[in-house]
Amino acid sequence: MINLREYMIDHLRSLTTSLLDAENPVYTLRPEMVELMAILRDFQSTAFVRQNDITEGETRTPNGLAVSPTMAAMCADDYVRTITFMRGAHAAILDIQKEFPERPVRVLYVGCGPYATLAVPLMTVLSSREISFTLLDVHPESIDSVKTIINSLGLTDAVASYETMDADSYRVSPDQPPDIILMEIMQACLQAEPQVAITRHLLKQAQDSILVPEEVRIDLILTDISREFNFNSPQQYQGSTQRDRIAVSPVFTLNRETVKSWNCNQTNRLPASDVRIPSILDERYQPMLFTTVQVYKNYVLRDYDSGLTCPRALSIGGALKPGDTIKFHYELGEHPGLHAEVSERLDKG
Ligand SMILES: C[S@@+](CC[C@H](N)C(=O)[O-])C[C@H]1O[C@@H](n2cnc3c(N)ncnc32)[C@H](O)[C@@H]1O
Repeated sequence: MINLREYMIDHLRSLTTSLLDAENPVYTLRPEMVELMAILRDFQSTAFVRQNDITEGETRTPNGLAVSPTMAAMCADDYVRTITFMRGAHAAILDIQKEFPERPVRVLYVGCGPYATLAVPLMTVLSSREISFTLLDVHPESIDSVKTIINSLGLTDAVASYETMDADSYRVSPDQPPDIILMEIMQACLQAEPQVAITRHLLKQAQDSILVPEEVRIDLILTDISREFNFNSPQQYQGSTQRDRIAVSPVFTLNRETVKSWNCNQTNRLPASDVRIPSILDERYQPMLFTTVQVYKNYVLRDYDSGLTCPRALSIGGALKPGDTIKFHYELGEHPGLHAEVSERLDKG
């Protein structure tokens, strides 16, 4: 007779298979995602339900905000994000597996949160001969919860270790570096959370590891807000063709190459682009920052797919004029983020 654990694993496997199946459009998969998360919630020890104050328990690290276990639990609800990350991580694992079929693929999952949402489902479709996760989070409640879920589901063989610490203190084993560094500790425009600093810290120690996400790019786009959110008819809601935007320039990119280029930089200031506002600027257009997350290869989150890629207004104090040059830089530290200032005004005299 099949026991409850086996039944749940079968059920999780079947949901995960649907979520990973590229034939299924990501936007249609919310019911499967909700069901999968309900199973993980059933197996956890502490309930990370929405409290009055969902920020309670967050930690301010020297490199940015580590969101509370409650907020981390809620991240799964951003289901297009969650599924795209799961698919990207799975594709990266399969690619490494082809290279090293004789051993499990080593994944360092930073900021796993209370459900290890991007790992546990994959453990049901890959065996412990194929995959080995190191699960890390700064919050002990999250690691306790993940341990309970993984023990209850009998998936312990797929875990190399649990690490309760700030990822900034994590030392990669030189003998067994991770094949993949998986982490989503970011917000739109790489604001507030420590994705940039932790990516730097880990990639320095494991230069050949695949990053998931591979790239996060921020672009400056002049946007006619009145056309941006006009969803009155289905014809109008057809994506960027109906919107009125002027792409200006990429402003800041986080990927393997840029991280390498910052190796000698000892300051808290990372370089970003200087951008000249085109002469066609008129009042209709607002400068907006758009975030694109290339999770892995063709698994990409674009504007409005996720909270991570929600466009944000650029704040520079005062209106922009055609010909202005905006100087950008990325500031590391407790409150990381992109900074902008107008450095030249054509009309100055
Ligand atoms: C946005 S949540 C993501 C949760 C989950 N991985 C997911 O994708 O649904 C970010 C998680 O990263 C953890 N975190 C943030 N900064 C960290 C750091 N410097 N070291 C360790 N964990 C960190 C937080 O505690 C939180 O659990």
